[in-house]
Amino acid sequence: MTMLFDGALPSVPVSLPTRVERFIAENRFDHPTLVLDTDAVVERFHALKSGLGQTHIHYAVKANPAREIIARLVAEGSNFDAASRGEIELCLSQGARPEQISFGNTVKRASDIAFAHSAGIRLFAADAAEELEKIAEHAPGAMVYLRLLVDNPQADWPLSRKFGSDRDMAIELCALAKELGLQPVGLSFHVGSQTRRASMWTGVLDYVAGVWADAKAAGHDLTLINIGGGFPAFYGEPVEAPAAYAAEVRRMVEARFPGARIMAEPGRGLVAECGAIACEVMLVSRKSGDDLHRWVYLDIGKFSGLAETIDEAIRYQFATPHDGEATGPCILAGPSCDSADVLYEKRPVALPISLRSGDRIVIRNTGAYTSSYSSVGFNGFPPLDVIVL
Ligand SMILES: Cc1ncc(COP(=O)(O)O)c(C=O)c1O
Repeated sequence: MTMLFDGALPSVPVSLPTRVERFIAENRFDHPTLVLDTDAVVERFHALKSGLGQTHIHYAVKANPAREIIARLVAEGSNFDAASRGEIELCLSQGARPEQISFGNTVKRASDIAFAHSAGIRLFAADAAEELEKIAEHAPGAMVYLRLLVDNPQADWPLSRKFGSDRDMAIELCALAKELGLQPVGLSFHVGSQTRRASMWTGVLDYVAGVWADAKAAGHDLTLINIGGGFPAFYGEPVEAPAAYAAEVRRMVEARFPGARIMAEPGRGLVAECGAIACEVMLVSRKSGDDLHRWVYLDIGKFSGLAETIDEAIRYQFATPHDGEATGPCILAGPSCDSADVLYEKRPVALPISLRSGDRIVIRNTGAYTSSYSSVGFNGFPPLDVIVL
């Protein structure tokens, strides 16, 4: 990054610019750059915590593994949901204690389970018999929670098909865990990432409460309900404020799981709004003289941080130096020589008519699932730069 003041770029609204957007407006960047505000992460952590009450928050590290974020959350007393040995090592290196870390991926390498066990981690996720066998062998006596397959088509980024087991299998897995000398302490699920309203949790919670009751009736003394992530960020469509949303989720969970220890794993809802990407327009063109749409090519695309535009699921907001001027529909694409690198085409984006190559763009609320999704060098483009304020 070159630290030059660029007075010509009020690319964010003059009213209430965030610290991140002020920093972007005042500096120049050689490459697409994610700027993160860890004070904002801490603020958001406390907003969620105020709504979630006694719930144990385990930050889903995959959303943004910046060391500075982990260190700030350790200082605030957060716990962590790790998906791999790498994420466990990261949390430990920033001062998290092993009992603050759960190994939440249901697909774990045996050697990573052994590593986690040797590091003192005692809480693991599973959704299959073979996974329980691996855990029993490499982390004998560990506590496990069984992940349920749930369906929630209302989430903008559903996670439903890949993870979890059905009701009957979850109860069988509780029994198997016991046979293997493990402690089946609870159930987990993920309602789907970017579940915009708390009321969208109702059906899933009712279903999980039914499985919980069945497992208890089968003699399993469950004490832990892990409600996963799903807490939303603002991408343009209305979302409830974090504390109110979290409080409503807590109320619904407590009503269905009285006395249970509640655990939540927010990722997106904790960090997305704490970062913005500074990038640039590389080309504006049309495919023919009567093309109704302009094609706008940015210097960032699906392979350099914006993977969540797959299926146009997550729709980011763009600020340009021409905001307030007349707009027209654009197909937005990334810079790589791959025809899959188109961000929004089914639903084009309205951008200022005067947009030109070289214009600087701010992509708002991109603190989650961007830097960690960026490839190491597709087409020779470097990974997304990250600056932490
Ligand atoms: C097990 C688990 N927990 C939590 C999360 C975080 O979800 P979100 O970003 O919606 O909060 C994820 C996301 O993939 C996950 O896989």
